[in-house]
Amino acid sequence: MKTNLVLIGFMGTGKTSLGRKLAKTLNKDFIDTDLEIEKLTGLSITLIFKKHGEIRFRSEEKLMIKKVAMKDECVISTGGGVVLAPENMKALRKKGWIISLTASPEIVYSRIAKRNNRPLLYKHKSIEYIEFLMKQREPYYKQADLLLDTSKADSNTLVERVIEFLKEKELDETDQNTIKGT
Ligand code: S3P
Repeated sequence: MKTNLVLIGFMGTGKTSLGRKLAKTLNKDFIDTDLEIEKLTGLSITLIFKKHGEIRFRSEEKLMIKKVAMKDECVISTGGGVVLAPENMKALRKKGWIISLTASPEIVYSRIAKRNNRPLLYKHKSIEYIEFLMKQREPYYKQADLLLDTSKADSNTLVERVIEFLKEKELDETDQNTIKGT
């Protein structure tokens, strides 16, 4: 049985805050891959992009995913671009349910507009550009076990939805074992 929950989704969809809440509620460890990369390199994500470029960041991200995907009983919150490398998703799926968080471009814009910590949006911080990037990534974000729209629902409702999802998965597992006779 998979024991990790992996949160994927565009920047500003609430992966870190929901991740923390889920970990607390479900009594699992919380891991934020961007924070882990910052700890390991001693550089902020912004500085990694600035000093070494996106390619270097993606390679640090791949190494971090490889490491955290092997853990158990964790809620893993990922960076928005993690889905771009198939090997990342393959590793994360092995022990984790993939939960994709969505939000409208307008909501994402309002959540990230005040902060300057999203290197990919430095040059074009607009609803139109967010929409453009989101559309490009949508097919990847859709390949999840559970999709949650964070635009309207409050965090308690979202946590409940995840708990329901986990119960369904547990039941499926029990049914499978009954069929197999184990
Ligand atoms: C990125 C999202 C960021 C961070 C980096 C690249 C992306 O994480 O990993 O700036 O490619 O969408 P958040 O989704 O937590 O903002």
